Formats: sequence, C-alpha cells, structure tokens
Amino acid sequence: MKKKVFAAFALCAALIAAMAVPVAAEGESVGVSMPTKDLQRWNQDGENMQKMLTEAGYEVDLQFASNDPATQLNQIKTMIGNGCSVLVISAIEGDSLGEALDMAAENDIPVIAYDRLLMSSDAVSYYATFDNYMVGTVQGTYIKDALDLDNAEGPFNLEITAGDPGDNNATYFYNGAIDVLKPYIDEGKLVVQSGQIDFQDVATPQWKTETAQSRAENILSSYYADGTNVDVWLCSNDSTALGVETALAANYDGEYPIITGQDCDIENTKNMIAGKQSMSVFKDTRTLAAQVVKMVTQILNGEEVDVNDTETYDNGVIVVPSYLCEPVFADANNYKELLIDSGYYTEDQLQ
Ligand code: BGC
Repeated sequence: MKKKVFAAFALCAALIAAMAVPVAAEGESVGVSMPTKDLQRWNQDGENMQKMLTEAGYEVDLQFASNDPATQLNQIKTMIGNGCSVLVISAIEGDSLGEALDMAAENDIPVIAYDRLLMSSDAVSYYATFDNYMVGTVQGTYIKDALDLDNAEGPFNLEITAGDPGDNNATYFYNGAIDVLKPYIDEGKLVVQSGQIDFQDVATPQWKTETAQSRAENILSSYYADGTNVDVWLCSNDSTALGVETALAANYDGEYPIITGQDCDIENTKNMIAGKQSMSVFKDTRTLAAQVVKMVTQILNGEEVDVNDTETYDNGVIVVPSYLCEPVFADANNYKELLIDSGYYTEDQLQ
C-alpha cells in the first residue's frame, strides 16, 4: 500500500514539476469562472489557477459565482466583453451557460471545461478533470474491501448519498460506485433499508451539507432508530459526508459506519483522523490546475493540446476531448504522505 502511495505521490510531484513553467503567449488574459466560495475545493482551485496562470505570464480574471447560475452567466459574459483570450469554466449547472458559450464561439474564444463538463453546446474546446467514474469505483472498491464483501457473510446495511443532479460529474461518481456494489445489493449481501437506491432518490441538490444532513436524519429516524446498525454510508463527496456525519452524531447510537467521501477537505480530513470518516478520494487540485495551465498555453501557442480521452465525455452535442487525471484514496493511514508530505496541507491545518 505504502509503495503505491509513494508511487502516486512521486508521479504527482513529477507531473507538477514537468508542467510548472509553460511558456506563455505574452499579455493574454484568461477568464476563470468558479462555481462558489462555499466549498473549500473551489477556493483552492481558484487560487491554484490564479497563481499558476500568473506565474506563466497571463493576466487572470477570476470570478466565483455564489452557486447562482445567472450570476455565473453574467460573469462569463463580462469576461468575454473584457476581451479574454481563453475561458476556463467550472459550471454550477452544466446546462445553463449556453448563451455565454455561444458568445464565446462568436468571438473565437476557446473554452476549457474545468472539472465539470459543460453540456449541450458545441462551443466547448476541451475538458480537464479527474476521472470521475474512477472516483466512484475507488469509493465502491474501498467499501468492498473494507467489508470483505466476497468472503464475509453479511448482510450489511448500506445507505447512499449522491451529488447534485445539475452537475454532470455526480452521475459518474454514483455509477462508478454502484457498478462495484450492485452485484452485492442484488445478491442481498448489501441491504439498503431505506429502499432509496436510484440516483434521483439519493441525489443532493447543489451538494449541500444541510440537505444531506436532513435526509440522513430522516433515514436514521425511520429505519435505524430501533437499534439496527447502518454498516456503510456511501457518500459521493466530502460536503455530503459532513452532513451525514453530523446527522449520525446526534441521531444514532449503533456501530459507527464506514463512510466514503471525496476532496480531502480539511474538516473531513480531521474527521478521518478522528475515525468519523473512513476515506476520501484525493484529487490534488494542483495537478488539475497545472494541466489546465498547460492546455491554455498549448491552445494559445497553436500547439497540439494534451488529451488522453476522446470517447467518454459526450455533452449531448459533441464528444469533448478530455484530459483525465487519476484520483487516489486517502485514509487515516496514508493521509500524512499524501496530504502533508506533498505540501497540500500543513500539519497545523489539520489540528
Ligand atoms: C467535484 C467534486 C466536488 C463537488 C461539489 C464536483 O463537481 O468534482 O470534487 O466535491 O463538485 O463541489
């Protein structure tokens, strides 16, 4: 295990080093549109992008849209009006930026979808993300291994909390995990007491912690108040896992479940160390930002743009050429190497 972590770490470090100093096209400006400041990861993504783009010699117009699609639309239109050369967009709702994307196309501005795919438009030039399906399979496989599903007798009780239906990533995360777990659900080794399995029944609009919490409270009071244990709670990311963890703390006395997450947010990493969350998929935002800065430079220099997937991400109109970074899982055993030794967090941040 340690070896694997070190290999992944060494690979990340090498990748970041290799991508650190792209040669910029002078004086170009890049519009970076992020969904919200509410979640830690987008602040980090924004900061990384601003820092790396500035270091590469670009001007940067970085905006956060308060999770409001109309605000995001206007911010992007303003970036175009101000003459940006490239747009990097992480959409609140993949479907709601058509007008701005049309405007970008009319002005010959290339658009990179950042982390989340931009849907229903042919004006999307590239997509850079972590392999979203793999995020789900990493979570599902973690559960499978932790419960030893192939050998243990079970049955085990599972509940599921997924992400935002407006975010194209959310179904990839869900499908990746469910594809690993479904055979065990079908054979009855995993039992979902609430009966809520389909994506639309377990989704969390806007990935809101409070929404995940109140749904978890309902499930706990309806199906687990009699002392039944919930053995595992599949959560698609850390903001939803946090809601489930808060619900469990106040509404559940049984054996503490295995809980998955994604992003290695500080609060969740603290919970991992304290035994309140089992794992979180680590998507090093520095790696993604470095890849996108590289793409920007390649586009502006008229070079061939690095992609490693030209089949998966169909946005309903075109298949968007993509670069998928590889996620890994963090837990209480390996977080020090992954998160502290790599400089992602300081030890103090996790106290
Ligand atoms: C991102 C996740 C994040 C979620 C909520 C998704 O699109 O890929 O990393 O946890 O949005 O912000």
